[in-house]
Amino acid sequence: MCGIIGYIGKRQAAPILLQGLRRLEYRGYDSSGMAISDHSTLAMTKCVGKIENLAEKMKTSHLPGSVGIAHTRWATHGGVTELNAHPHTGNKGKLVLVHNGIIENYRELKDQLGPEHHFTSETDSEVLAHLIEREFDLQEQKNCEGLRKAVGCGLSHVKGTYGIVVMHEDVPDCLITARMGSPIVVGVGKDENYIASDATPILAYTRDVLFLDDGEIAEVKENNVRLFTLKDEIVSKKVEEIHWNDEQAEKQGFPHFMLKEIHDQPTVFEDAIRGRFNMAEGTAVLGGLNMTEQQMRDINRVIFIACGTASYAGMVGKYAFERLAGIPAEVDVASEFRYRDPIIDEKTLVFVMSQSGETADTLAALREAKRKGAFVRGIVNVIGSTISRETDGGTYIHAGAELAVASTKAYTNMVTVALLYALQFGRARRVSIATGQRMLNAFLEIPEKMNWILSQKDSIKEIAEKYKDYKNFLFLGRGINYPVALEGSLKLKEISYIHAEAYPGGEMKHGPLALISEDFPTFAIMPQNQLYEKMRSNIEEIRARKGKVILIATQGDERAKELAEDVIYVPAMKELLEPLLNTIPLQLFSYYVAVALKRDVDRPRNLAKSVTVE
Ligand code: G6P
Repeated sequence: MCGIIGYIGKRQAAPILLQGLRRLEYRGYDSSGMAISDHSTLAMTKCVGKIENLAEKMKTSHLPGSVGIAHTRWATHGGVTELNAHPHTGNKGKLVLVHNGIIENYRELKDQLGPEHHFTSETDSEVLAHLIEREFDLQEQKNCEGLRKAVGCGLSHVKGTYGIVVMHEDVPDCLITARMGSPIVVGVGKDENYIASDATPILAYTRDVLFLDDGEIAEVKENNVRLFTLKDEIVSKKVEEIHWNDEQAEKQGFPHFMLKEIHDQPTVFEDAIRGRFNMAEGTAVLGGLNMTEQQMRDINRVIFIACGTASYAGMVGKYAFERLAGIPAEVDVASEFRYRDPIIDEKTLVFVMSQSGETADTLAALREAKRKGAFVRGIVNVIGSTISRETDGGTYIHAGAELAVASTKAYTNMVTVALLYALQFGRARRVSIATGQRMLNAFLEIPEKMNWILSQKDSIKEIAEKYKDYKNFLFLGRGINYPVALEGSLKLKEISYIHAEAYPGGEMKHGPLALISEDFPTFAIMPQNQLYEKMRSNIEEIRARKGKVILIATQGDERAKELAEDVIYVPAMKELLEPLLNTIPLQLFSYYVAVALKRDVDRPRNLAKSVTVE
């Protein structure tokens, strides 16, 4: 949550920072600001609302200079006001700072600083600027080294999490950045360097990056980057190359990132499976698993841990693991897992699933599972993210940059990787070569079938427009399509703000049926699989109570039309792989409902893409 971008080089910083903020807007969009140094003075501008408001403001208050920092905020402490927007300034106005994270002891720190410190915001972040500015005044060296030491000293008093970038009027030749719990990436360019809270805003300029670890601090000059620990020991680290390209961070002619990302799915699905099949053996090969065949056979429990959409991808993984590998599997929401007393031992395999790789609860759950001795593996999208680095192995899902807050293609690729793992374990334990090969062949049909569904988008749009004014929705699924129903209802809630609930079909008569009326439509997933007849009966029960039904049914299922006001057909697919297809109409439905209601599709109110606070 909240996005940071910093630049130091020879070019004008303002346009680079503004463009960076646009790329980061998915991380926070309630206010923004930037500070720029022209090597003699600092100038700053802030604004409430979207980045475009800041861009508009900057047309009249141009900030010249080639060093600068900027921030887009998702409020935690203090309301959405210009004063609470970052950057924040020290007591003398000489030091400015942008901060992601939460300073837990900010009240104590404010008290310790004393009455001569005047705070202008209600944020926890401002105290950091005061603290570090004061530390700098105590330093003998009034240069980059002194500023770095001041940051280290200031941070030694802090309890909480931070990713910060600091700039001082008297030291215009460097930016200092530090990390504890909130990610920081340094982009290494030629005669210029960048700092950001994730790689997205710097991809247009460089693919060479340094990922800071917790407790590290970097001194970033125009042509030099030096890393240290908070205790001022030198750190040496390899520059890593990011393979995502900047194109993935563009809308490419689509009106929204979400629609573009829905359409990316056939392509990125291929990226998720590429090189991961052994057709001769009928198995998947996910090298990052880092387990011997014996260890794979000894596992007696699998837990998928995740939040939001990722947890529904994990639920598909649970069904697949039980079916293919015969291992008891469960899915747990990270915020629950970390605060209960989960039963875990060295025969437990924990998959930590996360698009961003930074979700605070998921990260805490990962650490807890590791402490208890489980095998902990990541299923992560963002390369170099904290979760990807703290797990003892795992797999990147290769969905590319996902910028819409509501996850679509990352969900699909998480499901894909979870299914591949289930197959790999299945083959190590009980699945035959022939069964494995049939499954791999089904995977190969997915992109074409996804494209067919995408080609039906106009009729899905018509359905969405017809139903946009309903205030409540029910989503129903059974078996492997129950997580699909959950994901469909979450998508609708997230971007259209319509109330939606999801239930397993069999639960209807235990409560939810009481909700059904003409005003409460049901979206049901009823493919021709082993649960078809069961699902049909559930839908009949809804029809008998005058409930309107939209159905997802298998192509050629003519009976479906008798049951529903509207039917969206999907191609037939092997049951375990059905979520890869059946989720797409639900994504499109939510998208078109949200567009028809004029919602901010890519940046829904109150939500953030990367939730780095508890
Ligand atoms: C937020 C996002 C969701 C996402 C969830 C988990 O709530 O808005 O789209 O599913 O976080 O994020 P992760 O990055 O861990 O997958």
